[in-house]
Amino acid sequence: MKNINLSSIFLLILSLSFVVSQSHGSPLSSILDVTPTSENFITCLQSNSNNLTAISQLIFTPTNTSYTPIWQAAVNNLRFINSSIPRPSIIVTPTNETQIQAALSCAKKHGYELRIRCGGHDFEGLSYTAKVPFVMIDLVNMKSIDVNVSDASAWVQGGAVLGELYYAISRYTDTLSFPAGICPAVGVSGFLGGGGYGNLVRKYATGGDNVLDVRFMDVNGNILDRKSMGEDLFWALRGGVASSFGIVLAWKLRLVAVPETVTFFLVNITLEQGANDIYYKYQYVLPNFDRDLQVSVQLNSEYIGNTRKKTIRMLFRGLYQGGIDTLLPLLNKGFPELNVTREICQEVRPIQASLLFGGFTPSTPAEILTNRSAVPRLSFKSTSDYVKTPIPKSGLRKIWRKMFESDTFEALQMYTFGGKMEEYSDTATPYPHRAGVLYQVYKTVLFTGQPSDTTAVSRRRLAWLRSFDKMIEPYVSSNPREAYVNYNDLDLGVGSRTFKEASLWGDRYWKRDNFKRLIRIKAKVDPDNFFRHPQSIPVFSTYLSDI
Ligand SMILES: Cc1cc2nc3c(=O)[nH]c(=O)nc-3n(C[C@H](O)[C@H](O)[C@H](O)COP(=O)(O)OP(=O)(O)OC[C@H]3O[C@@H](n4cnc5c(N)ncnc54)[C@H](O)[C@@H]3O)c2cc1C
Ligand SMILES: *[C@@H]1O[C@H](CO)[C@@H](O)[C@H](O)[C@H]1NC(C)=O
Ligand SMILES: *[C@@H]1O[C@H](CO)[C@@H](O)[C@H](O)[C@H]1NC(C)=O
Ligand SMILES: *[C@@H]1O[C@H](CO)[C@@H](O)[C@H](O)[C@H]1NC(C)=O
Ligand SMILES: *[C@@H]1O[C@H](CO)[C@@H](O)[C@H](O)[C@H]1NC(C)=O
Ligand SMILES: *[C@@H]1O[C@H](CO)[C@@H](O)[C@H](O)[C@H]1NC(C)=O
Ligand SMILES: *[C@@H]1O[C@H](CO)[C@@H](O)[C@H](O)[C@H]1NC(C)=O
Ligand SMILES: *[C@@H]1O[C@H](CO)[C@@H](O)[C@H](O)[C@H]1NC(C)=O
Ligand SMILES: *[C@@H]1O[C@H](CO)[C@@H](O)[C@H](O)[C@H]1NC(C)=O
Repeated sequence: MKNINLSSIFLLILSLSFVVSQSHGSPLSSILDVTPTSENFITCLQSNSNNLTAISQLIFTPTNTSYTPIWQAAVNNLRFINSSIPRPSIIVTPTNETQIQAALSCAKKHGYELRIRCGGHDFEGLSYTAKVPFVMIDLVNMKSIDVNVSDASAWVQGGAVLGELYYAISRYTDTLSFPAGICPAVGVSGFLGGGGYGNLVRKYATGGDNVLDVRFMDVNGNILDRKSMGEDLFWALRGGVASSFGIVLAWKLRLVAVPETVTFFLVNITLEQGANDIYYKYQYVLPNFDRDLQVSVQLNSEYIGNTRKKTIRMLFRGLYQGGIDTLLPLLNKGFPELNVTREICQEVRPIQASLLFGGFTPSTPAEILTNRSAVPRLSFKSTSDYVKTPIPKSGLRKIWRKMFESDTFEALQMYTFGGKMEEYSDTATPYPHRAGVLYQVYKTVLFTGQPSDTTAVSRRRLAWLRSFDKMIEPYVSSNPREAYVNYNDLDLGVGSRTFKEASLWGDRYWKRDNFKRLIRIKAKVDPDNFFRHPQSIPVFSTYLSDI
C-alpha cells in the first residue's frame, strides 16, 4: 500500500514536471531526440566551416590537454574551480562571427545548451558551469577595441574586459573615459548586460546608460544592430542580462569627458578613531555631494592588536574628478569630520586611477590592465542590498555587533549613489536601482583556506552571511527588497514555473514593471527558451496579461 502511494506520487511528480518543462520550453535533447555527443558536435562544426584546420584549433574537449587551463583561465570565483563542479562538454573559442553562428547552430542541432563567457566574473559561475550538457563559447579571442576620439565613441567586441577598454582609450587620450567598473578583469559584456556601475556612476550613471549601439546574434543566427532589433530588445540587453536573449558580438559605447588630473584619497580608521560617527554622517552627506566625488566604504571586523576584543576598520576610498585644490575646500566645508588632508591625497591621471583601483601602484605600466591573470582571484559568496534611508545609530551598532560574530573573513563594501542616478526613471533601462538609493551594500564572505564551500568552516561563514542579511533587513530597501543582478545570488530562488515563483527573484533584480517587460521581450526573441540558465528570463505558456 505504501509503495503504491509512493509510486503514484512519483508519477504525479513526473507528469507535473512534464507540464512544467513544456511550459517553459522542453530540453532540446528531448525535442530532437538526440543524446548530445561531442563527436557529433565537432563534426557539425567542422562541416560548417570553410577551413578545417582553423576551426579544429578552436575546439576543446576534456581529452585535449589545453581544455583545463582554458576553462580555468576565467573561473573568477574559485568556489567553482573544484573538479566536482560540472564543466562544459566542449569549449569553443571563436575568432569570428561565422564561427559563433556555427557553434550556435550545432549546439541547437545536437541537444547542447550554450553558455557564453566574457570575463568570467559571474558570481554563480553561470557562464562556465551548468548541471546539463553544455557547450561554452569563450569569447577570449574576440576582444578588439576601436576608439574614435573625434566622435567620443568606441566599438568593443563582446569578449573584451574593462582593463583592456581603459587601456585602449588611454592610448589615444587622457580626457575621455567610460563609466565602467573597478576590477580590470571584469568582462564588458557581463558588466553592461547587468547595468554596470563604477567610479563615474554619480556623474554619468551606469555603463548600460552609455551604450549607443550593439551588434547582436539572435537564436537563429541573425546579426542585428540597434535599428534592426528595435528599441525593446536594445533596452533589454543593457540591464536585463544579455545571455537570456542571445549573444552580444560588440557594443558601441559613448565615451565621457574626464579631467586630465583626478584625485585619489584613502581614509583608514577604526571605531576607536571615531569611525562610527563618521559613517553615520557619511550617509547624509556624500550621496548628495558634488557629482565629481565618488566614495566607497569598505568595512571589516578585526582584532584590536593582540587582544580578543574586536573593532571595525573602515576604508573610505575617494576619487575626485579634479585636483586637490578644488577637492579640499569642498570636503572641509561639507564633511570636515572625514579629515581628508593634503597628505592622504594623490593627484594622478585617469588611467592611473584605474591602476590604483585595480590594486596596482599608479606607476605600474598601464599595459598590466590588459593582463587578465594579474588580478588575484578569490573564493566567495556575496549578496547585495540598497539603502534608501540613513541607518540610525542603533542600527549601526547592531551591524558592528553582527560583524564581531564573524571569523573576520567577511567584508562589506558600501558604494555611494545619488547624483546623475537621480535623473533616471527606474524603467529607463532594466537596471532599476536609481532615484532614492543612497548607497549600495555589497556583503561577502571568503572561503580562503577552505577546499570547498561545504566544509564546516565554510558553512559557518555562509550561515553568518544569511544571518547578517536577516539582521540588516529593516534598514534596506523593501517591496521589493532590491538586489543587483550582476551580484547574482541563486539563493534568492531559481523557480520559473509560474510568474509568481519567478518574481521572487525577478522583482528583486529588476522590479515588477521591468521584469514583466523583459518576459514579454524574451517571448518574442527566444520563444523556445534556448538561451537559458538558472536565473534567465523565463518563458511561460500563458500570456503575461493573463498572469
Ligand atoms: C572581482 C569583481 C569585481 C566586480 N566589480 C564590479 C563593479 O565595479 N561594478 C559592477 O557593476 N559590477 C562589478 N562586478 C560584477 C560584474 O559586473 C558581473 O559579475 C558581470 O556579470 C561580470 O561580467 P563578465 O563578462 O566578467 O562575466 P561572465 O561570467 O563572462 O558573464 C556574466 C553573464 O553575462 C553573460 N555574457 C557574457 N558575455 C556575453 C555576451 N557576449 N553575450 C551575451 N551574454 C554574455 C554570461 O553568459 C553570464 O550570464 C564585479 C565582479 C567581481 C567578481
Ligand atoms: C572566420 O575564420 C575562418 C578561419 O580562420 C575563416 O576561414 C573564415 O573565412 C572567417 N570568416 C569570416 C567571415 O571572416
Ligand atoms: C586555414 O587556417 C590555418 C590556420 O589558421 C591557416 O594557416 C591556413 O592558411 C588556412 N587556410 C586557408 C585556405 O585559408
Ligand atoms: C581537441 O580534441 C578534438 C578531438 O576530441 C579535436 O577534434 C580537436 O581538434 C582538439 N583541439 C585542439 C585544439 O587540438
Ligand atoms: C570617427 O567618427 C567620425 C564622426 O562620426 C567619422 O567621420 C570617422 O570616420 C570616424 N573614424 C573612424 C576611424 O572610424
Ligand atoms: C589601514 O591601517 C592599518 C593599521 O595601520 C594597516 O595595517 C592597513 O594596511 C591599512 N590599510 C590600507 C588599505 O592602507
Ligand atoms: C586627521 O588626519 C591626520 C593625518 O592626515 C592625522 O594626523 C590627524 O590626527 C587626524 N585628525 C583627526 C581629528 O582625526
Ligand atoms: C600577467 O600576470 C601574470 C601574473 O602576475 C604573470 O605571471 C604574467 O607573466 C603576466 N603576463 C604578461 C604577458 O605580462
Ligand atoms: C572539492 O570539494 C570537495 C567537497 O565538495 C572536497 O572534499 C575536496 O577536497 C575538494 N577538492 C579540491 C581539489 O579542493
